[in-house]
Amino acid sequence: MDRLQDIEMRIADHGLSFDEWDELQSPRTAETDFDRVVDRAMSRRGFLGGLAVFGGAAALLGTSALTPARAASRLGFDAVSANTLDTITVPDGYRWHAVATWGEPLWSDAPAFDQATRGTGASQERAFGDNNDGMALFSDGTRTVLAVNNEYTNRSIIYGARATGLPENADDVRKGKAAHGISVMEIAETDGTWGIVKDSTYNRRITADTPIEITGPARGHDLLKTEADPSGTTALGTWNNCGNGRTPWGTYLACEENFNGYFSSSDASYTPSAELSRYGVKTEDWGYAWATADERFDISKHPNEPNRAGYVVEIDPLDPTSTPKKRTALGRFKHENAELVVDNSGHVVVYMGDDERGEFLYKFVSEGAYSIGGDNADLLDSGTLYVARFHDDGTGDWLALTPETTGMASQAEISVHTRQAASAVGATTMDRPEWVAANPKKAEIYCCLTNNKNRGVKPNAGGDDTSVNGPNPREKNNYGQIVRWMPENGDHTATGFAWDLFVLAGNPTVHSDAYAGSENVTADNMFNSPDGLAFDSTGLMWIQTDGNYSNEGDFAGMGNNQMLIGDPETGEIKRFLVGPNECEVTGITWSPDRRTVFVGIQHPGEKGNSHFPGGGASVPRSCVIAIRREDGGLIG
Ligand code: FEO
Ligand code: CA
Ligand code: CA
Ligand code: CA
Repeated sequence: MDRLQDIEMRIADHGLSFDEWDELQSPRTAETDFDRVVDRAMSRRGFLGGLAVFGGAAALLGTSALTPARAASRLGFDAVSANTLDTITVPDGYRWHAVATWGEPLWSDAPAFDQATRGTGASQERAFGDNNDGMALFSDGTRTVLAVNNEYTNRSIIYGARATGLPENADDVRKGKAAHGISVMEIAETDGTWGIVKDSTYNRRITADTPIEITGPARGHDLLKTEADPSGTTALGTWNNCGNGRTPWGTYLACEENFNGYFSSSDASYTPSAELSRYGVKTEDWGYAWATADERFDISKHPNEPNRAGYVVEIDPLDPTSTPKKRTALGRFKHENAELVVDNSGHVVVYMGDDERGEFLYKFVSEGAYSIGGDNADLLDSGTLYVARFHDDGTGDWLALTPETTGMASQAEISVHTRQAASAVGATTMDRPEWVAANPKKAEIYCCLTNNKNRGVKPNAGGDDTSVNGPNPREKNNYGQIVRWMPENGDHTATGFAWDLFVLAGNPTVHSDAYAGSENVTADNMFNSPDGLAFDSTGLMWIQTDGNYSNEGDFAGMGNNQMLIGDPETGEIKRFLVGPNECEVTGITWSPDRRTVFVGIQHPGEKGNSHFPGGGASVPRSCVIAIRREDGGLIG
């Protein structure tokens, strides 16, 4: 009898799960998390062999090791039921209100939002942008400043006053460009209600036209030079800023995601280069029409312009005169967010996902070390960029992207053609990496892999194989999962890690196979397409969804997009909020006193079926909401 058979028999004898047995047999205190996860994964893989095989790869369900039923719950609220109401639903004992809404003026010289016209170029430049996403709060010690990404616009909503539902003239394009970027604004609380402080000296709009300095390895490289900027050092604007990050030195990171959808070609016969094609740049845009009023978005005339987008942008929200910086050392791809950890050694480690089907997960490790109160201004300009390779046995490596490993000519080229560099070293294709979040209580990182209908169906845009693999175990993955990893020896700069899956989302009322989800998914907490992700100060993980809200078929019973809270120790997941119709819930930050959590509601009514938040016949508008407890208690 080999060891595994012996284990299986003893498990059966004692009525224990394999993991309970494993827990009893393996004293954990002397082990690191890395050791424990590797051991567990290796054991389970052997144990599961032939059982949990989803299209060829065994899923290593870390959560099946977890015992939510036995542990005392740390989720002290009544779960919200799935629903399709055109409003926000929060647990009993909690209240919400809107803090900042698309088109709301930041200065008193700007007009109030006009429901009929939905604003002009001039009004939008002085108002909160559209489709808010990632955000973070800053304080100068007295005043509170909120920096918020305004990711994109829904043409049918912002141009709803136009017969075509599209931009029809240059001012419409001006409005569209101004609705993008970042809104920085002071907010204040009066009697439990937060709102914008108009005319604050901190208020600022950064848009698709704001000058941004290009820094890091690609600064000045030929690939970044254009007619308007022959030095390749100053780009105009940032757009499609999705998730965010923040640094301990007080700056905000805005991540450029689907930058490609804004470029087009006036020459329909123009063929974009293979390099541009890898990033999805085509001769037609996604309906924004920016090239009709701003020639730099015409790739047949300015083929290097797309090389100047797709970066992480660092902004000082407490200095409205500062020039934002595109940090090319962090690579160019469809950046989701940037989760920054300062390792014990002082090195800054930034974890980042590239949100496209079959693209990769990255980390940057700074060359210099962070020092409190020191000069950290350019820490994100030099260091090593790595991409993740996951092995099916529960381990993985970070592969450095250098001229030697990639065969590319220079670090500058790697900083611009990062996807190609990652393909060259054999990185693991992922199911659309969205937000990455670090557990503040231990060296452990999580990433939402939102979904991937192409998994096992066709290769990524670089031709890389996308057969099922360890952390992406389901073909045509329509539900998504959350992967987590522990750096070797708890050292974020290490190149080794151990991983498992915190949750496989699914629908146990429709499926009884892998698409039912992992054990911690039930009829009461099911969801699809995890996207936004952040830890609160107590070590609980807030999960936001951007999924299918049809409430039918594979998604029956899931209702509108939602926000849940997960306990990384027990695997328990509970629904905290349901959003209005056709919205995505994305972006989260807390007040310094932890009595308010700010949450983003993006594009309610994106298909025309919401009047949130105004109700009646009003135009649906993205907004930042504040949630507080009725008893004024702590919330995360
Ligand atoms: Fe803007 Fe990948 O979400
Ligand atoms: Ca997202
Ligand atoms: Ca998404
Ligand atoms: Ca969205």
